[in-house]
Amino acid sequence: MSSVQQLLEKARLFVKELSKPFVGREEEALVLGLAILTGEHAILIGEPGTAKSALARRAAELINARFFKYLLTRFTEPDELFGPIDINALKQGKYVRITSNKLPEAEIAFIDEIFNANSAILNTLLTLMNERVIYDGYSEIKVPLWALISASNSVPDEPELQALYDRFLFRHFVKPVEEDKWSSLLDAAWEIEVKGYSAAKPILTMDEIRELNKFVLSVDVKSIKDKALKLFAIFEDQGIHLTDRRKGKSLKALAAMAVLNGRMMVVEEDLMALKYVVARDKEEYDKIYGILLEEVKASEKFMKELSEIENNVREVFRYISKLSDLDPRLVDYLRSFESVRERVKRLSEETGDQQVREKAARVLEEVDELIEVIKRKLSL
Ligand SMILES: Nc1ncnc2c1ncn2[C@@H]1O[C@H](COP(=O)(O)OP(=O)(O)OP(=O)(O)O)[C@@H](O)[C@H]1O
Ligand SMILES: [Mg+2]
Repeated sequence: MSSVQQLLEKARLFVKELSKPFVGREEEALVLGLAILTGEHAILIGEPGTAKSALARRAAELINARFFKYLLTRFTEPDELFGPIDINALKQGKYVRITSNKLPEAEIAFIDEIFNANSAILNTLLTLMNERVIYDGYSEIKVPLWALISASNSVPDEPELQALYDRFLFRHFVKPVEEDKWSSLLDAAWEIEVKGYSAAKPILTMDEIRELNKFVLSVDVKSIKDKALKLFAIFEDQGIHLTDRRKGKSLKALAAMAVLNGRMMVVEEDLMALKYVVARDKEEYDKIYGILLEEVKASEKFMKELSEIENNVREVFRYISKLSDLDPRLVDYLRSFESVRERVKRLSEETGDQQVREKAARVLEEVDELIEVIKRKLSL
């Protein structure tokens, strides 16, 4: 394997390892992976106890970098984040902060509940995140911050926090684990209780991340530009507005998606990454997801349809077991599932994605089994 491929493999491993101890947090891991590869900030938003902080902490553990983490409250003082004022220097008339081990020296930062930022720290945070500098008295100091990760329970309403919110190129809305995964959730949580949480071993160094970022910036994005513009127009039509900053940076998100998929060229499917860039809140996210499924020929669309078919098959299985043999409704089911069968076969032929083909094969087996049972009940 060439070193390029090894590095791409490491990036994928980072995402895989990140979600490992959690149930159903693959998408969240992907979003944090995109942020790390692009050197952009990311925030996870969702109800309490959905592993947002745990994921952000783990992401930092998986990177060998200078790291700073802090939980913001309304009462957090600037000194706590940026370091205390150097008293000795002040005596000589110089206003400088002692920044060791504080945010100004961090490459990766995790600031939990960032919207608690009060006005005393907000402005410094804004320039630090956007320009990667802090103003120290009279001078401007460059900071090495690569990516800042945050977590919050809700989208901020306050006008003064909108500029801060806009600085997170990646914004993801974390949903609680769905019912079919509750059993695994209990197992995973139990394992953490019993064994304790063990820190992850670093997978990526900052040098490797910078190297990966060079790959991201050399990805061929031209072929996707028109389609992206078309999508932006649709979003705008639907009342979903993207700030110019986000429009401008969105190609980077697509390029990072390509790199995580081992490609140096963006393909249509990478547009799905816009889900994590465009939405302001959960409602917009649902709308955008719908538009992307319509407009982008993505495996995700096929996977979703197959999952729906799968759920439907299981439900009908349960339902018909209660029907008596020769019930006339069975004839309708037979007809309907024979056409579902054709649909699954077509999906499998149309996709270029191995994962979709494998899932289609599994679903097809279940559909066949259901058809068999119906036929038996109908004595066919
Ligand atoms: N999907 C999951 N898989 C495994 N464990 C989980 C999952 N969700 C939550 N947990 C467990 O719950 C704990 C609490 O998660 P965490 O503190 O990260 O939540 P949070 O989303 O940051 O909540 P808050 O918004 O209240 O800060 C995790 O450390 C983990 O042990
Ligand atoms: Mg938390």
